[in-house]
Amino acid sequence: MCGIIGYFGDKDPKNVILDGLKKLEYRGYDSAGVCILDDGKFSRFRAEGKLSNLEEKVKDKQFNGHIGIGHTRWATHGVPSERNAHPHKVSGVSIVHNGIIENYQSIKKELLANGAKIESETDSELIAHLLSIALEDTKDLETAVEQVLPKLKGAFSIVALWEEEPNKMVAFKDGPPLVLGVGEKEILVASDITAIVSHTKDVVFLEDKEVVIVNGTDYKILDPRGNEIHKKIEHIDWNPEAAEKQGYDTYMLKEIFEQPRAVAQALEPHIDIENQVIQLQGALGPDVSAEEINKRLAQVERIFVVACGTSYYAGMVAEYMIEKMTRLPVEIEFASEFRYREPVLPPKSLVIVISQSGETADTLASLRMAKEQGAEIMSICNVRSSSIDREADYHLYMRAEAEIGVASTKALTCTLAVINVLSATLAKIKGRLARDEEVALIQKLQQIPAEMEKVLVHDKFFSEAANSLKRYKGFLYIGRGLSFPVALEGALKLKELAYLHAEGYAAGEMKHGPIALIDQDMAIVVIAPKDDVYEKTISNLEEVRARGGQVIAIGSGEDEVLKDLSLHYLSIPEGDWRTNPILALVPLQLMSYHVASSLGLDVDQPRNLAKSVTVE
Ligand code: F6R
Repeated sequence: MCGIIGYFGDKDPKNVILDGLKKLEYRGYDSAGVCILDDGKFSRFRAEGKLSNLEEKVKDKQFNGHIGIGHTRWATHGVPSERNAHPHKVSGVSIVHNGIIENYQSIKKELLANGAKIESETDSELIAHLLSIALEDTKDLETAVEQVLPKLKGAFSIVALWEEEPNKMVAFKDGPPLVLGVGEKEILVASDITAIVSHTKDVVFLEDKEVVIVNGTDYKILDPRGNEIHKKIEHIDWNPEAAEKQGYDTYMLKEIFEQPRAVAQALEPHIDIENQVIQLQGALGPDVSAEEINKRLAQVERIFVVACGTSYYAGMVAEYMIEKMTRLPVEIEFASEFRYREPVLPPKSLVIVISQSGETADTLASLRMAKEQGAEIMSICNVRSSSIDREADYHLYMRAEAEIGVASTKALTCTLAVINVLSATLAKIKGRLARDEEVALIQKLQQIPAEMEKVLVHDKFFSEAANSLKRYKGFLYIGRGLSFPVALEGALKLKELAYLHAEGYAAGEMKHGPIALIDQDMAIVVIAPKDDVYEKTISNLEEVRARGGQVIAIGSGEDEVLKDLSLHYLSIPEGDWRTNPILALVPLQLMSYHVASSLGLDVDQPRNLAKSVTVE
């Protein structure tokens, strides 16, 4: 949560920092601020609310220095306000901070006892006080950081400036991500590469407790013991345009429409078209063959899947699909529960962690806990070289490119594509996927992009129907089998975007309670593609209809039965049970998008949310 950026270079720092903050705004939008060198002093501007408020404040301001920092906030300690906005400034020290200082109360007590004047309610301001005190003796920002770093407990990434050394910027982290961008005549540090990639594609990912000292266009990195280290510069292949709206009104709509291409990209490394073979390519690094990967995976006797939010629903699909196709026992868990409930991980357990950002605090902590217990870890991430990706043994990628809309869309459908190839690979290893079945599945998978294009035409329907849909007092999403996690995700999307009450339920569970909610004002969204539980879902739907519920149905092809039972019927192409969820998600994304838009809400940045949840 929170996005931070620091810049030194020959471009106008105001433009670079504001542009970077725009890319980082998905991480939080409670307030924003910058501190930029001007006439030898760091000039600070802050504004409550969205970045546009800050842009308005600085639009006529010119800065003549070449260094500065910026911040976009997701509030943890202290309400969203200008007073609590970053950068925090104490004497000549300015800092931006992402994360939480857990021992802030004891630090605050000590600072107050020594007469410090604390202006905000944040834990972050305390860091600036500590640095300022250290600088009285050290007169050197690098040494001051080295003294302060061991005093901080929690999860943080920080960039600091000091007026007495105006060409210097010191950045350090313990927990949340921090990336260094090394350009020709410029250096950037930021919470993620989206803020850097339009300036340079050469980056260095910092590890916990490393410190980077930027001095003009030079930099050096210190390891946790203070020794200088030379880290590899990685060249990333991200397209800077992936972080732009490209003519769409919102990132979310762009990302929904990008899905056919994104899913094709996710599948591409794992399908050998010429030989019609599914294989996990590159999961153990570029030099390890698919055969060796299979050999190692053949040892697995038990699978746990761990994730949060939308990624958790992807994990539920993995649980159903892998178990059904391989007969290996699979369990899905919320990362926030798994990490604390002391689970038993038998020998030969594989823990699959799913995370778009690769930084979600609970998921990362679960990974570390499982690793300590000797389990092998497989990550499915979108952000390469994120903490989760780096710490896993096997690495699979969503390949969705930058997902900026806070509500996840394309990352989920890409994950489901990857789960398909993973399940098929494990089934082959277990001798449970016949050759003709493999070829048939490949054909189905390859049809997905074209089929998604067809499903995207429902955009028009929902843009027109949104006005009537938003009048319902509540929404119940129901489905069975693989459509159950789809129902849960549909409800989550509507809640987080439109702030309407929505619940996802296993269709067969309706009669055990939720059916009491149903009346004329309740919309029932049913996901009932033609699969082996279709008939059962139809029976549940009859029960709902008998009580007056208004049905919006998603089914396969021209399903007359479902049509008769529904007020609105949205068709997805007749598919395979394994690919249905990918297609069925698209109308649900469009529905939430248009209902939220028709309510005048900000779909890219829903209230109280942030994309990368690096706090517990
Ligand atoms: C919902 C959404 C969140 C994330 C969750 C996990 O639209 O985006 O529920 O799925 O915060 O994030 P990652 O996948 O980055 O671990």
